[in-house]
Amino acid sequence: MTKNVYLVYYSKTGNTKKIAEEILESFSRLSPHGMSVRLMDARELDFAALKAADGYVIGTPNYFGAPSGYVKIFFDELFTERATLKGRPVFCFVSHGGSGDIKRLRSMCDWLELKTVGPAVAVRGARISSTDTATIETNIQEMIKLL
Ligand SMILES: Cc1cc2nc3c(=O)[nH]c(=O)nc-3n(C[C@H](O)[C@H](O)[C@H](O)COP(=O)(O)O)c2cc1C
Repeated sequence: MTKNVYLVYYSKTGNTKKIAEEILESFSRLSPHGMSVRLMDARELDFAALKAADGYVIGTPNYFGAPSGYVKIFFDELFTERATLKGRPVFCFVSHGGSGDIKRLRSMCDWLELKTVGPAVAVRGARISSTDTATIETNIQEMIKLL
């Protein structure tokens, strides 16, 4: 059966979107047949599709040390569905202007009882380093094992 992963992101000035597209590209290179990974703009969340998904990647700009409000809606609306979502793998990434430390994103994943895979990837602007690429690939491989 096809496994469905949604990469939910918000991007105002394009940095987070660029990282999301790189991650999507890495997924298509690394994932086996029978896996579908799709981008979902957090301004157009499809909750039925999200409830039926097998895993998630969440990307947001750092806004005042927190995720964008659009991304927070993912967590706000799916909190009551956490029994269904429990244990599904997720990994997070952040675009920032100097500080990529947004602990609340991790905490929100924990509240939804998702299984966080690897460390969050924090990228200044959209400048993805070779270390970031390596972390993204490790996170994807770990997620594939859990699906
Ligand atoms: C409203 C607002 C708040 C921000 N707050 C922070 C912040 O607290 N720390 C930080 O490092 N960058 C902060 N930034 C910078 C953005 O995180 C950064 O420019 C990011 O790359 C934007 O992503 P985007 O191009 O996908 O919209 C803020 C930007 C905006 C517009």
